[in-house]
Amino acid sequence: METLARDLLDWYDRHARVMPWRVGPSDRQRGLRPDPYRVWLSEVMLQQTTVAAVRDYFHRFTTRWPTVEDLATAEDGAVMGEWAGLGYYARARNLLKCARVVARDHGGVFPDNREDLLALPGIGPYTAAAISAIAFDRPEPVMDGNVERVMARLFDIHTPLPAAKPELAAYAAMLTPQERPGDYAQAVMDLGATICTPKSPACGICPLRPPCAARAAGTAAELPKKTPK
Ligand code: ADE
Repeated sequence: METLARDLLDWYDRHARVMPWRVGPSDRQRGLRPDPYRVWLSEVMLQQTTVAAVRDYFHRFTTRWPTVEDLATAEDGAVMGEWAGLGYYARARNLLKCARVVARDHGGVFPDNREDLLALPGIGPYTAAAISAIAFDRPEPVMDGNVERVMARLFDIHTPLPAAKPELAAYAAMLTPQERPGDYAQAVMDLGATICTPKSPACGICPLRPPCAARAAGTAAELPKKTPK
């Protein structure tokens, strides 16, 4: 494994944020993966919504519908009611559609690969990669805003977004390790959320400080650049 991925995983083992859809450190060491249903539900909820806002909703959903097959049999109105307040209601409608397809066509078992996941309602490239990596430990690069920012800084990329997307994705793919890719994907997101933040990144305590090109150039806080609207 690349030193960079190893350093990031070591940091994650010490500092991973505790979230209700993740497995804890001791389970992680035993190679236990989180339930695909919980990973899917959390990733759909986390689109356009913060971790703090999602926690209670996630808890209520998984208490009321512990499995995807339970959710598949729920009344539309019950699901829309539990979703109330999270916004972007198309997500809730697709959630229920997706649960019903997984129950009907896949025997209640989420597919483990990106292509089959992409075919499900409401699952786009980000969510397909996230489920495949996090729940099934596949070496899929998972691209979100956090990951784009971390890549732009590590490699000191000044091309503005969105034009820089393919280049940033190529770097992310290059760095994704074959070992523990699911933990690695979450480690990059946690780094972006807690240290490599949009404004005033905490470079002084960053585990990737040595290899970071933007840190060396003093450009971290101004990256990624964005094309003015
Ligand atoms: N934001 C969206 N998905 C996430 C995850 N799995 N870990 C941390 N932050 C996230």
